Parts: sequence; C-alpha cells; structure tokens
Amino acid sequence: MTGKPTLAVVGATGAVGAVMLQILSQRADVWGEIRLIASPRSAGRKLAVRGEEIEVTALSEEAFDGVDVAMFDVPDEVAAQWAPIAVTRGAVVVDNSAAFRLDPEVPLVVPEVNPHAVRTRPRGIVANPNCTTLTMIVALGALHAEFGLRELVVSSYQAVSGAGRAGVETLRAQLSLVAGTELGTKPGDVRRAVGEDTGPFPEPVALNVVPWAGSLREDGWSSEEMKVRDEARKILGLPQLPVAVTCVRVPVITTHSLTVHARFQGEVSVDRAREILATAPGVVLCDDPATGEFPTPADVVGTDPTWVGRLRRALDDPTALELFVCGDNLRKGAALNTAQIAELVAADWGDRA
Ligand SMILES: NC(=O)c1ccc[n+]([C@@H]2O[C@H](COP(=O)([O-])OP(=O)(O)OC[C@H]3O[C@@H](n4cnc5c(N)ncnc54)[C@H](OP(=O)(O)O)[C@@H]3O)[C@@H](O)[C@H]2O)c1
Repeated sequence: MTGKPTLAVVGATGAVGAVMLQILSQRADVWGEIRLIASPRSAGRKLAVRGEEIEVTALSEEAFDGVDVAMFDVPDEVAAQWAPIAVTRGAVVVDNSAAFRLDPEVPLVVPEVNPHAVRTRPRGIVANPNCTTLTMIVALGALHAEFGLRELVVSSYQAVSGAGRAGVETLRAQLSLVAGTELGTKPGDVRRAVGEDTGPFPEPVALNVVPWAGSLREDGWSSEEMKVRDEARKILGLPQLPVAVTCVRVPVITTHSLTVHARFQGEVSVDRAREILATAPGVVLCDDPATGEFPTPADVVGTDPTWVGRLRRALDDPTALELFVCGDNLRKGAALNTAQIAELVAADWGDRA
C-alpha cells in the first residue's frame, strides 16, 4: 500500500476523460497509482497525467485489481456492465454515465449541495449528474437553502461537446463546409452544404440551433429533458418539484448555458439573492448589464465555477427569479464534479487506512 489510494480512469481517451487527466494534474494530488483504461482500440496509447506518460490498458476484470476508486467516463451501456464488476474487484465506482443516476441505492452527488450523500452507497457506486443539471444546480442549491424552491422552468443552450468527441468533430467538419458560402437565404441552405451526415445531431448544428438533445421519451419529451427534471429532484431532495425543461443544441464547442425561472416559497429579495450567489462556493456572480457584464461560453470555457448573470426578479411574480447560467460542461459538468466526488471517497479511505 502506498498510503494513497489507487485510481482508475475508465474512458481516459474520451472528451470527458481528456479533461479529467488535466484536472488530475491540476488539483491537490490525493492519489497513489493512476491507471488509464479505455477500449481495446486505445490500448497501448500513452497519455500524460501529473507530468507522467501512462500507457492506456484495455478494459478487463483484472484491470481493477488493487484499484480503490474507479472513475467511469464511458457510454451508459459500458458503465452498466462494468461498474458492478469493478465493485466486486474492490473499487468504489464514481460513474459519469446515466446508468445508475436514478437508482435509489446509488447516491447522486454534487459536493457543494449534498456531500453527505456520498457515504451511503449500498451498491458501491456513486453517480455524477448529467452536465445540463450540473450547469445550474450549484447556484440553485444555494438559493434553495435560503428561499425554498417550488418550481423550475429551464431552457438550455447546449454545447456540442456534450455529445462527446463525435459532437465536436461534427461541428468542426460542418463549420469547414459552410465557411465562406452564401447561406441563409433559402430553407435547407445549410443542410445542403453539410450533407446528410449530421453526426450525433438530428439537424445541422453549424449556423443553426437544434431544439433536441438525447433520445425520444414519452409525450414528445427528450431523454436530456427528463434527466434534468429527475436529477434536479433527486439532488435537491424534492421528489415532487415541478420542472419544465426545453433542451437546445447550439454551435458552441464547450460550455452549456441555461436560462432559469425559479419560483420559491415566498417573496424573494434580489439583493439577498445577489449576496447568496456572490458568496456561494463554486459560483461566480457576473452581473452588470449596464456595463455589458454577463457570462458567455466564450469567456467561461475552461473555468471551474458556475457563472451567473442577468439576475432579476420575475416581472409578474415576486416569488420568482430569472437568471442566466454558464458552466463548462466538461469540467464542472463532468470531470471536475467526478474528481470532487472521488476526493470525498478518498478522504474516507484515508480515515480507514
Ligand atoms: N461530454 C459531456 O459533456 C458529458 C458530461 C457529463 C457526462 N458525460 C458522460 O460521460 C461519459 C463519457 O462521455 P464522453 O463525452 O467523454 O464520450 P466520448 O468522447 O465518446 O468517450 C467515450 C470513452 O469511452 C471509451 N469506451 C467506449 N466504449 C468502450 C468499451 N466498450 N470499453 C471500454 N471503453 C470504452 C472510449 O474509449 P476509446 O477511445 O478507446 O473508444 C472513450 O474513452 C458518457 O456516459 C457521457 O454521457 C458526458
């Protein structure tokens, strides 16, 4: 035993995995050995973490031998199959996929909001919320603690990297196809320019907005919209919270944005809301419309906090606030929150060791 826990990063070669390796190199080093795992396609590749080149190994049962904490940054079906195997090999799993988020025996954790939940993990798995939920939940958790949340109405403006490396490659390819062409005067111009292959999106995303993310669920809702509702309810401990969500994909590479209409139990003071957001851990208030100050993805990409601007009391409802939030979907929306959860697990491991 090194005195520090051994960590496995499963999915180290993906969009989230790449950011995870940066984050592990930047944060306080609580880990002993770090193992990098991906599909057999990537076995033998070398990736840098903590200033060291580490060879990627293929996912296998033996890869988890001696691992204390395993972060999973892989597709849902891979996590569903392999996370329980990692647990039987002795690891605590922190899973970034949707496979276990709504399992009542798996805590869904945001360290700024419900850190205590990490300790009750009967299946040995802790789930990380989806990136759209994470973009708003730290700010909303702080407001909820003071005012008591009663209802949410949310619209998202989601970056293409939310759909992984394939999403980024699709937007890059489409942008090169539309660059310099005369577009936008006739319906279908952009579609004709980019062709039939729209990657993980149902419509061209270059020079466009697409009101869809995920797969079809009942009554016309998308899977992404259901995740935002169900996960926000679980994290905040409000199982009946009314939540209306519309998810929209926009031609931004990284950083999701959301408009939020949040209704609370009683009348809210904007000044008090400002104080709460200005002092909440993990939140930056960037809100001075008179000088053009509000967050945009171009400015906040690559940063860790949730950025909040355009804070106003609702025009026709003194119990409601309107806000605009931005957060890097690959950092707090995925890798950073996973790393924070894993650090909470590691701190307990240190107590036991
Ligand atoms: N992107 C986001 O903003 C975001 C935010 C929150 C949560 N998530 C979730 O995080 C997970 C990873 O997302 P991503 O965007 O990083 O996806 P991605 O870019 O497509 O990367 C997928 C990763 O999974 C690995 N993988 C795929 N199939 C595998 C298999 N059969 N065995 C072992 N490894 C396999 C890939 O390895 P190879 O390179 O070897 O193929 C790669 O490392 C997903 O569950 C996603 O829903 C993503």
